[in-house]
Amino acid sequence: MTLASTKADPASGASAPVAVSLRKVGVTYAMGRPVLEDISFDVREGEFLSIVGPSGCGKTTLLRMLAGLLRPTVGEALFDGQPIMAPSRERAIVFQDYTNALLPWRTVSGNVALALEKTMPVKAERDARVAQLVEKMGLSHAADRFPTQLSGGMQQRVQIARCLSQEPRIMLMDEPFGALDAMTRQTLQDELMALAAERRTTTVFITHDLEEAIYLGDRVIVLSANPGRIAQTIEVELPRPRHQLTTREDPRFLAHRHHLFGLLQGH
Ligand SMILES: Nc1ncnc2c1ncn2[C@@H]1O[C@H](COP(=O)(O)OP(=O)(O)O)[C@@H](O)[C@H]1O
Ligand SMILES: [Mg+2]
Repeated sequence: MTLASTKADPASGASAPVAVSLRKVGVTYAMGRPVLEDISFDVREGEFLSIVGPSGCGKTTLLRMLAGLLRPTVGEALFDGQPIMAPSRERAIVFQDYTNALLPWRTVSGNVALALEKTMPVKAERDARVAQLVEKMGLSHAADRFPTQLSGGMQQRVQIARCLSQEPRIMLMDEPFGALDAMTRQTLQDELMALAAERRTTTVFITHDLEEAIYLGDRVIVLSANPGRIAQTIEVELPRPRHQLTTREDPRFLAHRHHLFGLLQGH
């Protein structure tokens, strides 16, 4: 069996520049208790970082902060060394709640084309790019449908295609595969990894699925709840490219899984 990676491992990039840097970040919503506390980590360019944690521990809050939709109450959130003040095209987000993420009056293709209308003014070129992305997400048959005519999983795939069309420097993904059936989920995991590797797109991927976190990630950050804090960070020592069957059978995969499972169960 040859799983040995030939491509340079982006995470080994102790030398790769830092894309995102959080310094002792805390978030408190108005009049409440802190949701996130003392969160510090860096994400290097090209790295695939998974974040797991129990429901309500502040994962979505953390991602919204990285997107610039929310400012930290204390500490600093930096992108390229500059404070993240507002949303930017360079940082694309795929929302957990897909029901409000698409424009209802636009078709699948129309939604995916959105980010391209400024950057690709030539319609034929844009249409070709949209068709390619729609195809990658397995939605060619539904290209002319409107969001209300799609299942949750299909709406989520449109969101992902739109995110990819932006060609962002960083993809921020909030449990993007939660609404998908197992087969589609595995296909899209592999598609996403390939795309991220091809473009060396930095990715922060939130999931509550431990196996998904390990399978995709160069590193996994585990959050604990009340308040959300970093419980542990693990380096995923699995070669790339990864494979749905062999990677998941690798003793190192199983060891990571046991370790994280114990951690989230509080042992
Ligand atoms: N806009 C908001 N205003 C007040 N509290 C919020 C808001 N958004 C989230 N919360 C609270 O913050 C905590 C973390 O929420 P969230 O970031 O959505 O967690 P997760 O994504 O890990 O489930 C929860 O207790 C939630 O109720
Ligand atoms: Mg959430």
